[in-house]
Amino acid sequence: MRPEREALLRHLKQFGEKSDRAATAHAEKMLNITADTGLMLWMLIRAMAPRSVLEVGTSNGYSTIWWADAVPDGARLVTLEADQQKLAMARANFQEAGLAGGIELVPGDATEFLKTARARDWDLIFLDADRKRYVNWWPDLFRILAQDGLLVVDNAVDKAGELAGFRSLVAATPGSRQVLVPIGNGELFIQHDPDLL
Ligand SMILES: C[S@@+](CC[C@H](N)C(=O)[O-])C[C@H]1O[C@@H](n2cnc3c(N)ncnc32)[C@H](O)[C@@H]1O
Repeated sequence: MRPEREALLRHLKQFGEKSDRAATAHAEKMLNITADTGLMLWMLIRAMAPRSVLEVGTSNGYSTIWWADAVPDGARLVTLEADQQKLAMARANFQEAGLAGGIELVPGDATEFLKTARARDWDLIFLDADRKRYVNWWPDLFRILAQDGLLVVDNAVDKAGELAGFRSLVAATPGSRQVLVPIGNGELFIQHDPDLL
């Protein structure tokens, strides 16, 4: 990664932490992933060279900048965000990172995108949005996840209780595997393994 982009990520991380401390409402918080989570998935993306990455929950674009720096040329990177203010911040941050051309920022509720996305189209999906919706989103998330693709879910340790129902649903789905990676806020890795079907 270019040093100026790494410096921007460090700046955004500090901005996020400061904003989250000062925020009076949940919607005002940036709630960015931890830097080690960013680096781990950056390494993973560099190694797996996915042709498509989908992020659900952009916030101000901190995590998206990690993924956009790592994806190979020509890969599709889409990120979904509902909040107007966050969308504006993300747009500005993508410009500043010199990555605006490589990121499709899709405004609005992610539900519609997930419903209409093509089956088995996404090699890597990063899920970091409204956890109350994950159970309802699961059939579409699993349908659009490529064979051997990875779905990574943030907050699997610090919000483990909120994800219990989702994890049970995943466990009951033929063809899915899950493993918990205790880094940052806890990353749940879910893979579509057709040999389990
Ligand atoms: C935890 S933050 C994402 C943080 C971001 N991934 C990062 O690490 O920089 C969750 C974001 O999901 C967005 N969000 C919540 N529910 C959503 C929905 N149904 N559709 C689209 N975005 C949603 C929120 O507005 C918020 O900005």
